[in-house]
Amino acid sequence: MPIRHFLELSDLTSDEVRELIARGIQLKAQRNQNETGSLMKNKTAVLIFEKSSTRTRVSFEAGINQLGGSAIFMTSSDSQLSRGEPIEDTARVLSRMVDLIIMRTGSHENLVRMAEHASIPVVNALSDFNHPCQQLADIQTFTEHRGDLRGHKVAWIGDGNNVCHSWMNAAKLLDFELVVATPEEFEPDADLLAHCGDHVTLTRHPTDAAQNSSLVVTDTWTGMGQETEKAERENAFSGFCVDQTLMSLANKDALFMHCLPAYRGYEVTSEVIDGPQSVVWDEAENRLHAQKALMEFLLLQTDSPE
Ligand code: CP
Ligand code: NVA
Repeated sequence: MPIRHFLELSDLTSDEVRELIARGIQLKAQRNQNETGSLMKNKTAVLIFEKSSTRTRVSFEAGINQLGGSAIFMTSSDSQLSRGEPIEDTARVLSRMVDLIIMRTGSHENLVRMAEHASIPVVNALSDFNHPCQQLADIQTFTEHRGDLRGHKVAWIGDGNNVCHSWMNAAKLLDFELVVATPEEFEPDADLLAHCGDHVTLTRHPTDAAQNSSLVVTDTWTGMGQETEKAERENAFSGFCVDQTLMSLANKDALFMHCLPAYRGYEVTSEVIDGPQSVVWDEAENRLHAQKALMEFLLLQTDSPE
């Protein structure tokens, strides 16, 4: 069996995504019954994080624990990567010691190089290009509340960033409509947009995106590593705050999502994120369950005979 990596959502087929979400829902129910697993008994995962994290780190470490495995967390400065050891050599060495590499990096290219030289699965825990683990949790959350995403309209309001890119991949894979509202200079990647075809359209008007949508999604205007652009970005995104007026254009039962961390009063008002349409805490919790399903999938695929 070739090694299965998870660098972007489209590393899975749509059937695999749906199966994995169903498994995440099942694992959530099992955890609520205090049932534990042993799939990762005697298995170890290394987490290499170049950037800060609360949800991703904790959900992976807790999930690995709950599956009976152990996790080793390193920032890139803890490792020899910070002293110039090539990613390719790191990938080869880790592959001889552990069972899974989970990496958060500012350069998607680093993940690709890690995956190309690892003989164990590599998981993208966020890159500058996308955030597929977040996407799994978001799909699980929508599924739990409203069923399959197929045929729905989803509004992305704000920066055409890494999380937006994962929503674009999801639209193509799961066959729903995504309308992305961004200022001109913050559009998502043009090649990805072309790849997603008629599932994704762009607009400059948040109201057009929100109109008749089943879900409104946003994210911070200033991602990790963009702190020096904060003032310029706040200026460019004025008019893109998700407030109750914008939510009222969406369907009556529309949900609101945000991957967190959120900045109230900027990309979203307190009224919306802390209001009845918001499912952000379910999204955060589902990182745990969806990623357990993902690790199980990748490890079982890797263990199965040719
Ligand atoms: N949503 C998310 O990835 O959060 P963290 O940066 O806290 O991991
Ligand atoms: N777009 C944000 C997501 C944080 C989880 C960032 O990259 O910082």
